[in-house]
Parts: sequence; C-alpha cells; structure tokens
Amino acid sequence: LMKLAVIGGGSTYTPELIDGFARLRDTLPLGELVLVDPAADRLELVGGLARRIFAKQGHDGLITTTSDLDAGVDGADAVLLQLRVGGQAARQRDETWPLECGCVGQETTGAGGLAKALRTVPVVLDIAERVRRSNPRAWIIDFTNPVGIVTRALLGAGHRAVGLCNVAIGFQRKFAGLLDVAPDAVHLDHVGLNHLTWERAVRLGGPDGEDVLPKLLAEHGDAIAGDLRLPRALLDRLGVVPSYYLRYFYAHDEVVRELGTKPSRAAEVAAMERELLEMYGDPALDEKPELLAKRGGAFYSEAAVDLAAALLGGSAPATQVVNTHNRGTLPFLPDDAVIEVRAAVDPSGASPLAVPELDPLYAGLVAGVTAYEDLALEAALRGGRDRVFKALLAHPLVGQYAIADGLTDRLIAHNREHLAWA
Ligand code: G6P
Ligand code: MN
Repeated sequence: LMKLAVIGGGSTYTPELIDGFARLRDTLPLGELVLVDPAADRLELVGGLARRIFAKQGHDGLITTTSDLDAGVDGADAVLLQLRVGGQAARQRDETWPLECGCVGQETTGAGGLAKALRTVPVVLDIAERVRRSNPRAWIIDFTNPVGIVTRALLGAGHRAVGLCNVAIGFQRKFAGLLDVAPDAVHLDHVGLNHLTWERAVRLGGPDGEDVLPKLLAEHGDAIAGDLRLPRALLDRLGVVPSYYLRYFYAHDEVVRELGTKPSRAAEVAAMERELLEMYGDPALDEKPELLAKRGGAFYSEAAVDLAAALLGGSAPATQVVNTHNRGTLPFLPDDAVIEVRAAVDPSGASPLAVPELDPLYAGLVAGVTAYEDLALEAALRGGRDRVFKALLAHPLVGQYAIADGLTDRLIAHNREHLAWA
C-alpha cells in the first residue's frame, strides 16, 4: 500500500482529488494520504470532509493532516504539489496589473505567469529538496503552475519529477462524450508546452487508430469552438483544436478588452472558495459538492491517479500526457526544454513518445515561449530586474522594450514580499 503526500492539501480542490482516490482505488491502492498545508484552519475543514468521503465510499485508507512539511512527506512514495504561493490575493494581482500595460492578465500566461513563476520556483525547490532528503526514491508530481517552468526547475535540480495538467484529459473526456465512446478509447495527438498545446489528431481504439478529428470538427465544431471561446471558422481553417490558453495568443487584444470590463477570475474563485469552505464545515456533507465543478480542475484527480499509479508500479495506462524533458522529441528545442506530450510512464519515469513534425504555424510559438520559459527560470533562480525584463522582452505576447519595462516595474512592485532579491 502506498503513502502519498499532498502539499497544498488544504486547497478547496482537494475533495476532487479525494473523490478520485476513492473511486479509483483499484488503480492506486492508497494506505495513507497526508494533507500538508500551512493553513491549519483549512486543513481541518478539508481533512474532515476528505475522511467522510473515504468513509462513504468504503475506502479504509488513513487520511492525516499536518502543517509540518518534513513530518508530512516522511516515508511518502509520491508527493503531489498543488500549492499556491501568496494565495488568490497574489493571483488577483497577477491578473490585474498587466492590463495597465495593454497585456493579458492571466495566472499562467504572460507577465502574470512570470510573477507566479518567480514566487513559486524557490518554494517548490525547497520542498523538493526536503522530500529528497527524506526519501530519495519518492516521485514528485507537480500540478503547481506554471507547470512548464516549475517542472523544468525540478528536473534541472535533478529531482524525480513529472509535471501534470488536466487540459489533455479534459479534451479526451470531452471528445469521448461527443463520440459516445469510452475515454480510454480516445488517443490524442497532443503537442506543445504546458498551456500552449494543440490537439492535432483524435484517434480511436489505439495510437494508430482512425483520426476522427475532421469528423468531430464537422459535426461538433460549434460546441468545441464555443467552449474555447474562439471562432468556429478558425478551428476549421487550422484543422486542429488549440487549448483554451491559445485564446490569450490568438485573441490577445480582444481578451485584454474583455478583462478590463469584468471581475478577475481570482475574485470569482475567492468567492467560490469561501462558499466551498463553508460547505466543507458541514458534518453532513460526505461527497464533493457540485460547486467544485465550476473550477477549472475537472478530471485532475483522474490524471493524478493514473500518473501516480504508473510511477509507483500500479495498474495504469502505460502512456499518458505529461510534462517532461524534450530529449529530441521536438528537434528544434533544447533537450532540457520541458514539453507536454504523450509519454511512456513507468517506475523509471516518463519518456516522451515520438510525434509527427510540428507545422511552423505552431513551432514558431512553441520555440518563442520555450525561450521565454528558459529566461523566466533564470530570473526565478537568480533574481534581478534585468533578468525579469529579458524574460518579458522574449515573451511573444510582449516583445517591445517599453512594455517590458512597464511590466517589470509592476511585477516587482506587486511581489516584493515574495522575492528575496527585490
Ligand atoms: C485548468 C488548468 C490549471 C489551472 C486551472 C484554473 O485546470 O489546467 O492549470 O490551475 O484551470 O482553474 P480556476 O478554477 O482556478 O480558474
Ligand atoms: Mn494546467
């Protein structure tokens, strides 16, 4: 039986994870789950509900809670990172100040994502170091955004880590529903970087099965485009399905105008979190509430269970979409760039599977954002105004020195308390 620790276990998202662990206990047999979080009050509420969910579903695994990181990760086979440095308040700022420079305000894309990376990388590396000291064989599964940069930091420091996101599993489930087939019959040609991906083919029955993407677009193009808030005609012209995050590129100015007129996503999420925590305190609640479905993390528990099971030698799909070192998969990127593609996963780790050549229409953007991520990691590891500026100047959504300077000043001013060098 496995022991798993969740860092950021006091998150309102955790019941989603617990529900997945309970439902999928044959895939991942858990003996103990430790929720680790500095916020003791949240831990108590979330831990209580987590135990009720396990009890209701007849899972006899032990759920414990602690604010002591070293005690929490002690003896863990895998450690799942889902923390948020600075909480929703920091996210709210990431989503707001870039707008003053005419740039998208988003928690992972553009300048807001850089701010999040700068706050997060040092904290995650410290945690990973402590995990390694306690158990050098433990696997780290990183959900903490920005997943591409954080995973690159972890792998660069030699940690046993894999980055994970729910975008691919979300498309798999969505397409399976539209096609009326089981999700595991759907094999995506999913390629790019975290939050910068395209579905180029949707194969049925196996990785070499028939590509039904043209049929999906013909029959359900309006619904798919509607979800992404991109024009149907764009998807038809491209013949691929970009992830939701490509809207920040393909419709950047439109998004900036829109964000200027409505409350931030962070504010919406903060309101939902207050409501959720209230619900979690109700001793009669013993399942994940409906309201949780309004968060972006749908199916993240399923992706986490599959990945943990594959890394720990349980029964799980042998190939999964994850974030890992490129190693020649996209030949125009450095080997140590972190890409998001289908990979073979087993207890020795994740190895990306070969993908068809990437059209220049997408390769250019992937190369540009990879260069940005490289510079962003430099800035996160070594600090300094100049490194922040260069990362922003390299970002395909910024590019101009005057804008990069304006963003740099704001990023530093709004994040001083989280940046050791500022
Ligand atoms: C998706 C992304 C996650 C992100 C989340 C935000 O699930 O893949 O990386 O954290 O959306 O959702 P939220 O409800 O916090 O806006
Ligand atoms: Mn994600």
